[in-house]
Amino acid sequence: MLKKYKGAKKIRLAEVGSTNACAKEYAEKGAEEGTVIEAKRQTDGRGRLGRSFFSGGGGAYFTVILRPRLSAEASLLITAAAAVAVAEAIEKISGKEAKIKWVNDIYIDEKKVCGILAEGKLSAEGRLDYAVLGIGVNLSEPEGGFPRELEGIAGAIFEKGKEIQAEAVIEAIYDRFFEIYENIEERAFMQEYRRRSFLKGKTVSFKKEKTEHTALVVGIDDSARLILDEDGKQFTLEAGEVSVKWRE
Ligand code: BTN
Repeated sequence: MLKKYKGAKKIRLAEVGSTNACAKEYAEKGAEEGTVIEAKRQTDGRGRLGRSFFSGGGGAYFTVILRPRLSAEASLLITAAAAVAVAEAIEKISGKEAKIKWVNDIYIDEKKVCGILAEGKLSAEGRLDYAVLGIGVNLSEPEGGFPRELEGIAGAIFEKGKEIQAEAVIEAIYDRFFEIYENIEERAFMQEYRRRSFLKGKTVSFKKEKTEHTALVVGIDDSARLILDEDGKQFTLEAGEVSVKWRE
């Protein structure tokens, strides 16, 4: 761990609504950068695009408080940096290849094993006052399996029955993230982000301005935007979600 974050506070909870919501309360009260809130279970785990995130146990659920001195554009890189940190850390621990599905879902063997939700608060000057970076990793499949709506979509990094230390996984991700974060604006990690792309070369569908589109994923640029080709016309997507179109 970088010296700077060694003294940062760790708050470990058995259960909480959402570690992101909890981290925001700490951030509002002035908690320093690097403070981390961990929970064994969440009763109101939150995902991107207003969705919920299954957090019923068997996972590592945690949120890190950041106080980035970054331009608004560069702050978009935080989730991409976190995705690289998670992919590298869990690959090292599990020995399984981890891919990144743009923007920031982590896949092993075609199943989503981790979700990342970064939320920020802007100051009156339009800069980030703070950001909370929430990460949820499915360590093992829950007893009785994932909820029905996640069947075939969600996966875990370890086989059933293996004893897993959530703490070790959190620490490995935390340490790697802060190494990258130190020089985030140099964007060197984007090369690794691209190398791990789950989508490159795939045909995807997505909605833009209420219209359904189908396009080929050409790559990802240095600002973590998805580069697409739709009928020979190239354009980029900066946020949102795309679905892989499986062809017969
Ligand atoms: C997604 O897949 O849409 C993002 C999921 C992010 C889940 C994590 S778990 C820890 C933190 N607390 C939350 O409520 N959400 C994030």
